[in-house]
Amino acid sequence: MSKILVTGGLGYIGSHTVVELINAGFEPVIVDDLSNSHPKILDQIIKITGRRPVFHQLDLSDEHGVQNLAAAEHDITGIIHFAAFKAVGESVKEPLKYYRNNIYSLLNLLNAYYSRPVNFVFSSSCTVYGQPDVLPVTENAPVKPAESPYGNTKQIAEEILKDMVASGTNYKVTALRYFNPVGAHDSALIGELPIGVPQNLVPFITQTAIGKREKITVFGDDYHTADGSCVRDYIHVVDLAKAHVAALKLMQENDFSGYDVFNIGTGNGNSVLQIISAFERVTGVKLNYSIGSRRSGDVEQVWGDVSKAEKQLHWKAGLGIDAMMASAWAWEKYISQNPL
Ligand code: NAD
Ligand code: WQD
Repeated sequence: MSKILVTGGLGYIGSHTVVELINAGFEPVIVDDLSNSHPKILDQIIKITGRRPVFHQLDLSDEHGVQNLAAAEHDITGIIHFAAFKAVGESVKEPLKYYRNNIYSLLNLLNAYYSRPVNFVFSSSCTVYGQPDVLPVTENAPVKPAESPYGNTKQIAEEILKDMVASGTNYKVTALRYFNPVGAHDSALIGELPIGVPQNLVPFITQTAIGKREKITVFGDDYHTADGSCVRDYIHVVDLAKAHVAALKLMQENDFSGYDVFNIGTGNGNSVLQIISAFERVTGVKLNYSIGSRRSGDVEQVWGDVSKAEKQLHWKAGLGIDAMMASAWAWEKYISQNPL
């Protein structure tokens, strides 16, 4: 069985990916420092899969710690690197915290496994496109100057990985540019766990619906979109998790070039108001919302051209907005009744 190191494997996307790796017959080894996750997520993964993955609690920005990890986990064949800080606003206020964590962790991992043949999947983001000139945006679209230090860490990381592959290491690298991951596992045992006030739309919706927040504000209805609110390509986290399995399988094929990049979304755009009304329709819960002013730094609209992933990764999103809303709501109800 192929052993795959999953950094950030107790986080939102990482935990769902660990489940899909087990379903696909891989042996995930989790590394997480619990800076944005909870140790009990491991128990939830065990409940879903009936398997107990090895777990190392480690801060990947600690160089010696990562060297020791590589000595202990010397027989891995792949790395899926989720571990990073991801709060855009916080990264503007504390840029060094983001450069330190997101860049050091990547460099430490790459150094520690440099001489080994490793298939590496990197968590990149549609944030690298900023506001694209052409929609849907393809992987060949120009990368725009980053809007935040967080976004810049994704651009820098992609450059580091490209340079490293060009230098002739044994690494094969796939960067996945995620659009907007939402939803939860259909068991409702794992999902997104925002610490403090959620920054993202769907957790804010579910926390408002359950009564943790009084109301949700729609950040602007005067954009040049059909209903005036911003448009995004929301992707179910379980579909996203499966894209990582597909990327590992692709790299196992001999003709894979050293570095490639894929958009991972549904290829469809939905506005904030469409998401709110889908949530209300699917759950039967009326949301208390109002229209507010624009949020600084928001792009107006972005959705992905996902044909490259469909053709080459043999992966396609299967779950729509209704499944995203229903699973996010089931998870919110579960976690409110069963706090970790
Ligand atoms: P998350 O915060 O839920 O998961 C990240 C995990 O990494 C957490 O469990 C955290 O404890 C861990 N971690 C952070 N720094 C670490 C370190 N130095 N050492 C060890 N563990 C560390 O975030 P997520 O939403 O699951 O995102 C996963 C990845 O996907 C991130 O790289 C993020 O930038 C990227 N991404 C996320 C989104 C999104 O909207 N969620 C979109 C595009 C890209
Ligand atoms: C979605 C839409 C908001 C909250 C962020 C990062 C991006 C990527 C994904 C990592 C926007 C609107 C939100 C609210 C609202 N992450 N909104 N009221 O901004 O597309 O992307 O997460 O790489 O880098 O920037 O996602 O969920 O924050 O917002 O109206 O209370 O919902 O304005 O149009 P975003 P989001």
